[in-house]
Amino acid sequence: MHTGVRKVTAQTAEQLSEKIRGTLDRPIVLIGMMGAGKSKLGRMLAKVLDIPFYDSDVEIEQSAGCSVSEIFEKLGEPAFRAAEARVFARLVGQGVAVIASGGGAVMTPSVADLVFNQTLALWVRAELDVMVDRNSRHDNRPLLKGKDARQVLTDLMAVRYPVYSRAHMTVESQEGPATDTLYQAISAIADHLDSVGVSR
Ligand code: S3P
Repeated sequence: MHTGVRKVTAQTAEQLSEKIRGTLDRPIVLIGMMGAGKSKLGRMLAKVLDIPFYDSDVEIEQSAGCSVSEIFEKLGEPAFRAAEARVFARLVGQGVAVIASGGGAVMTPSVADLVFNQTLALWVRAELDVMVDRNSRHDNRPLLKGKDARQVLTDLMAVRYPVYSRAHMTVESQEGPATDTLYQAISAIADHLDSVGVSR
Protein backbone atom coordinates (compact mmCIF):
# COMPACT_ATOMS: atom_id res chain seq x y z
CA MET A 1 0.00 0.00 0.00
CA HIS A 2 1.32 3.45 -0.92
CA THR A 3 0.82 6.59 1.12
CA GLY A 4 1.96 8.94 -1.65
CA VAL A 5 4.21 11.33 0.27
CA ARG A 6 6.56 12.46 -2.49
CA LYS A 7 6.08 15.90 -4.00
CA VAL A 8 4.17 15.69 -7.28
CA THR A 9 4.22 18.56 -9.76
CA ALA A 10 1.37 19.43 -12.13
CA GLN A 11 3.44 18.16 -15.05
CA THR A 12 4.19 14.82 -13.38
CA ALA A 13 0.51 14.49 -12.42
CA GLU A 14 -0.52 14.98 -16.06
CA GLN A 15 1.98 12.34 -17.24
CA LEU A 16 0.81 9.91 -14.58
CA SER A 17 -2.85 10.60 -15.45
CA GLU A 18 -2.13 9.71 -19.06
CA LYS A 19 -0.64 6.44 -17.91
CA ILE A 20 -3.62 5.71 -15.66
CA ARG A 21 -6.06 6.42 -18.51
CA GLY A 22 -4.27 3.81 -20.62
CA THR A 23 -4.23 1.13 -17.92
CA LEU A 24 -7.35 1.50 -15.77
CA ASP A 25 -9.80 -1.37 -16.28
CA ARG A 26 -12.09 -0.99 -13.26
CA PRO A 27 -13.69 1.70 -11.08
CA ILE A 28 -11.72 3.66 -8.51
CA VAL A 29 -13.74 3.80 -5.27
CA LEU A 30 -12.95 6.45 -2.66
CA ILE A 31 -13.59 5.20 0.85
CA GLY A 32 -13.16 6.94 4.21
CA MET A 33 -14.95 8.85 6.94
CA MET A 34 -17.61 11.55 6.62
CA GLY A 35 -15.85 14.85 6.02
CA ALA A 36 -12.60 13.28 4.81
CA GLY A 37 -13.12 14.90 1.41
CA LYS A 38 -14.07 11.91 -0.79
CA SER A 39 -16.65 13.69 -2.95
CA LYS A 40 -14.52 16.74 -3.71
CA LEU A 41 -11.43 14.66 -4.49
CA GLY A 42 -13.50 12.18 -6.49
CA ARG A 43 -14.97 14.89 -8.70
CA MET A 44 -11.52 16.36 -9.39
CA LEU A 45 -9.99 12.96 -10.07
CA ALA A 46 -12.73 11.97 -12.52
CA LYS A 47 -12.29 15.26 -14.36
CA VAL A 48 -8.52 14.85 -14.73
CA LEU A 49 -8.88 11.22 -15.83
CA ASP A 50 -11.80 12.14 -18.09
CA ILE A 51 -14.04 9.34 -16.78
CA PRO A 52 -17.53 9.43 -15.18
CA PHE A 53 -17.97 10.43 -11.54
CA TYR A 54 -20.63 9.02 -9.22
CA ASP A 55 -21.39 9.85 -5.60
CA SER A 56 -23.15 6.88 -4.01
CA ASP A 57 -25.26 9.11 -1.71
CA VAL A 58 -26.48 11.13 -4.71
CA GLU A 59 -27.32 7.93 -6.61
CA ILE A 60 -29.30 6.65 -3.60
CA GLU A 61 -31.15 9.97 -3.31
CA GLN A 62 -32.01 9.93 -7.01
CA SER A 63 -33.47 6.45 -6.92
CA ALA A 64 -35.32 7.04 -3.62
CA GLY A 65 -36.57 10.49 -4.61
CA CYS A 66 -35.62 11.92 -1.20
CA SER A 67 -32.54 12.91 0.82
CA VAL A 68 -30.24 10.60 2.78
CA SER A 69 -31.52 12.26 6.00
CA GLU A 70 -35.13 11.54 5.01
CA ILE A 71 -34.33 7.89 4.25
CA PHE A 72 -32.71 7.48 7.69
CA GLU A 73 -35.65 9.25 9.35
CA LYS A 74 -38.52 7.52 7.54
CA LEU A 75 -37.13 4.08 6.71
CA GLY A 76 -34.18 3.67 9.10
CA GLU A 77 -30.50 2.89 8.60
CA PRO A 78 -30.96 -0.78 7.48
CA ALA A 79 -33.12 0.40 4.52
CA PHE A 80 -30.45 2.97 3.65
CA ARG A 81 -27.71 0.29 3.75
CA ALA A 82 -29.77 -2.00 1.50
CA ALA A 83 -30.23 0.82 -1.02
CA GLU A 84 -26.50 1.58 -0.79
CA ALA A 85 -25.62 -2.06 -1.56
CA ARG A 86 -27.92 -2.01 -4.63
CA VAL A 87 -26.31 1.19 -5.88
CA PHE A 88 -22.82 -0.31 -5.52
CA ALA A 89 -23.76 -3.50 -7.38
CA ARG A 90 -25.01 -1.32 -10.27
CA LEU A 91 -22.15 1.21 -10.31
CA VAL A 92 -19.32 -1.31 -10.01
CA GLY A 93 -20.87 -3.29 -12.87
CA GLN A 94 -20.71 -0.21 -15.09
CA GLY A 95 -16.91 -0.32 -15.30
CA VAL A 96 -14.35 2.46 -15.34
CA ALA A 97 -15.40 5.50 -13.26
CA VAL A 98 -14.61 7.26 -10.01
CA ILE A 99 -17.11 6.46 -7.24
CA ALA A 100 -17.19 8.40 -3.95
CA SER A 101 -18.72 6.11 -1.34
CA GLY A 102 -20.63 7.02 1.81
CA GLY A 103 -18.46 6.51 4.91
CA GLY A 104 -20.33 3.40 6.06
CA ALA A 105 -20.68 1.67 2.68
CA VAL A 106 -17.79 -0.78 3.02
CA MET A 107 -19.08 -1.85 6.45
CA THR A 108 -21.74 -3.82 4.55
CA PRO A 109 -20.05 -7.14 3.69
CA SER A 110 -21.44 -7.39 0.12
CA VAL A 111 -20.19 -3.86 -0.63
CA ALA A 112 -16.78 -4.61 0.91
CA ASP A 113 -16.52 -7.73 -1.28
CA LEU A 114 -17.20 -5.71 -4.42
CA VAL A 115 -15.01 -2.76 -3.51
CA PHE A 116 -11.96 -4.68 -2.32
CA ASN A 117 -12.10 -7.40 -5.00
CA GLN A 118 -13.43 -5.72 -8.13
CA THR A 119 -12.32 -2.08 -7.90
CA LEU A 120 -9.32 -0.01 -6.87
CA ALA A 121 -10.10 1.23 -3.38
CA LEU A 122 -8.49 4.53 -2.36
CA TRP A 123 -8.75 5.39 1.33
CA VAL A 124 -9.05 9.14 1.79
CA ARG A 125 -7.75 9.92 5.30
CA ALA A 126 -8.00 13.18 7.22
CA GLU A 127 -7.11 14.29 10.75
CA LEU A 128 -9.96 14.04 13.27
CA ASP A 129 -9.87 17.85 13.83
CA VAL A 130 -10.26 18.44 10.09
CA MET A 131 -13.25 16.09 9.86
CA VAL A 132 -14.90 17.62 12.96
CA ASP A 133 -14.46 21.08 11.46
CA ARG A 134 -15.79 20.09 8.01
CA ASN A 135 -18.79 18.27 9.49
CA SER A 136 -19.65 21.28 11.67
CA ARG A 137 -20.38 23.26 8.49
CA HIS A 138 -23.12 20.86 7.31
CA ASP A 139 -26.10 19.27 9.02
CA ASN A 140 -26.84 16.67 6.34
CA ARG A 141 -25.31 13.70 8.15
CA PRO A 142 -27.93 11.78 10.11
CA LEU A 143 -25.38 9.85 12.18
CA LEU A 144 -24.06 13.15 13.59
CA LYS A 145 -27.34 14.99 14.02
CA GLY A 146 -27.73 16.30 17.60
CA LYS A 147 -24.64 14.36 18.71
CA ASP A 148 -21.09 15.20 19.73
CA ALA A 149 -19.44 14.85 16.30
CA ARG A 150 -15.95 14.34 17.74
CA GLN A 151 -17.17 11.43 19.90
CA VAL A 152 -19.22 9.78 17.13
CA LEU A 153 -16.36 10.08 14.63
CA THR A 154 -13.87 8.71 17.18
CA ASP A 155 -16.11 5.70 17.88
CA LEU A 156 -16.70 5.07 14.16
CA MET A 157 -12.97 5.34 13.37
CA ALA A 158 -12.23 2.55 15.84
CA VAL A 159 -14.64 0.21 14.06
CA ARG A 160 -14.06 1.35 10.50
CA TYR A 161 -10.31 1.90 10.19
CA PRO A 162 -9.51 -1.84 10.24
CA VAL A 163 -11.88 -2.25 7.26
CA TYR A 164 -10.66 0.88 5.46
CA SER A 165 -7.12 -0.41 5.82
CA ARG A 166 -7.96 -3.11 3.25
CA ALA A 167 -7.79 -0.35 0.61
CA HIS A 168 -5.28 -0.79 -2.21
CA MET A 169 -4.06 2.81 -1.81
CA THR A 170 -4.19 5.63 0.73
CA VAL A 171 -4.09 9.39 0.42
CA GLU A 172 -3.93 12.04 3.15
CA SER A 173 -6.56 14.74 2.57
CA GLN A 174 -4.57 17.93 3.15
CA GLU A 175 -5.83 21.23 4.54
CA GLY A 176 -3.88 23.13 1.83
CA PRO A 177 -4.64 23.39 -1.89
CA ALA A 178 -7.00 20.66 -3.10
CA THR A 179 -4.68 20.00 -6.05
CA ASP A 180 -1.96 18.78 -3.63
CA THR A 181 -4.27 15.99 -2.47
CA LEU A 182 -5.33 15.32 -6.08
CA TYR A 183 -1.72 14.94 -7.23
CA GLN A 184 -0.94 12.63 -4.30
CA ALA A 185 -3.97 10.50 -5.24
CA ILE A 186 -2.85 10.31 -8.88
CA SER A 187 0.63 9.31 -7.77
CA ALA A 188 -0.72 6.60 -5.45
CA ILE A 189 -2.97 5.18 -8.21
CA ALA A 190 -0.14 5.17 -10.77
CA ASP A 191 2.20 3.46 -8.28
CA HIS A 192 -0.43 0.84 -7.54
CA LEU A 193 -1.11 0.13 -11.22
CA ASP A 194 2.65 -0.20 -11.75
CA SER A 195 2.93 -2.68 -8.92
CA VAL A 196 0.07 -4.90 -10.14
CA GLY A 197 0.85 -4.46 -13.85
CA VAL A 198 2.94 -7.59 -14.08
CA SER A 199 0.31 -9.84 -12.57
CA ARG A 200 -2.64 -8.74 -14.76
C1 S3P B 1 -22.50 7.82 6.37
C2 S3P B 1 -21.84 8.72 5.55
C3 S3P B 1 -22.55 9.60 4.62
C4 S3P B 1 -23.90 8.98 4.20
C5 S3P B 1 -24.68 8.62 5.41
C6 S3P B 1 -23.97 7.62 6.33
C7 S3P B 1 -21.70 6.96 7.28
O1 S3P B 1 -21.76 9.83 3.46
O2 S3P B 1 -23.69 7.84 3.40
O3 S3P B 1 -24.98 9.80 6.11
O4 S3P B 1 -22.21 5.94 7.74
O5 S3P B 1 -20.51 7.32 7.53
P1 S3P B 1 -20.40 10.73 3.48
O6 S3P B 1 -19.29 9.84 3.97
O7 S3P B 1 -20.22 11.13 2.05
O8 S3P B 1 -20.67 11.87 4.38
